[in-house]
Amino acid sequence: RRVEEALRRWLVEPETPEELAEGMRYCTDGGGKRLRPALVFLCCESAGGDAGSEAARRCAVAVELVHTYSLVHDDLPAMDDDELRRGRATAHVRFGEAMAILVGDALLTRAFAVLAPVACEPPGRLVAELARGAGPAGMIAGQVADMGLCEVPEGADGLTFIHQRKTGALIRSAGRLGGLCAGADGPLLEALTRYAAALGLAFQLTDDLLDVLGTTEQTGKSTGKDAASGKRTYVAEAGVERSRRRCEELTRQAVAALEPLGPPAEPLRKLAELLAERTH
Ligand code: IPE
Ligand code: IPE
Ligand code: MG
Ligand code: MG
Ligand code: MG
Repeated sequence: RRVEEALRRWLVEPETPEELAEGMRYCTDGGGKRLRPALVFLCCESAGGDAGSEAARRCAVAVELVHTYSLVHDDLPAMDDDELRRGRATAHVRFGEAMAILVGDALLTRAFAVLAPVACEPPGRLVAELARGAGPAGMIAGQVADMGLCEVPEGADGLTFIHQRKTGALIRSAGRLGGLCAGADGPLLEALTRYAAALGLAFQLTDDLLDVLGTTEQTGKSTGKDAASGKRTYVAEAGVERSRRRCEELTRQAVAALEPLGPPAEPLRKLAELLAERTH
């Protein structure tokens, strides 16, 4: 509820053309799990911060906007060419390809405008954190690798290389932003970073498993696409059972990383366990 309200408040700036605003709202409204905002809030609270603060809410919105833009562009015909997202038509199917590209551009730009006013030490640290996760050595590098547009190692190392970047980098940033909002640094921030990094890898593994085992009703997207498009996934290269075991192992790693945080990290433990069992 907290993030839905904050998204409504900060999504559209004045003088945005209504047609563009409609596209931005369409892509952002409802349907998403809001995992990344939840991570911002829970990491903030686990580190002793106030998840209801404007700083935490702005961080949560910024991360969700970057994530949503990445989905809009990921679905484009030139990329994964998908027609269904969050249970409805993808942006380019609904509004045309040009508008979908521009909606993605708008969401990405808006994310940094929402984040910029949050005070932090040193100045610019939060913006730099999000830019690192989302940027050309983070999520975009992963998308380039996923599309086969750069050199990627063979086997499991290559899959980790792709997953760490295309999905792990932004999830890691979400955890770190939450920690930074609480003023965490040193071993505390390091623990949250290791937690979120392992969680991000597990999350993409489950995404790949659900593409094979899930249904459109559950996931809100077309399934069976990865094999059909010849994507490199852990499931394709190691099979369902080994993927499941790897996902459990990563979940254990995520939970183990929380040790220095003690009892306040209980919600983060629950989140990791919940995600390992997700069906959507
Ligand atoms: C889908 O992310 C794309 C990946 C990075 C795996 P989510 O599964 O978090 O998508 P929504 O936000 O719930 O729609
Ligand atoms: C998406 O990975 C990663 C990003 C959007 C950065 P996928 O291509 O596997 O995600 P889905 O399955 O389309 O949600
Ligand atoms: Mg993709
Ligand atoms: Mg995709
Ligand atoms: Mg997928």
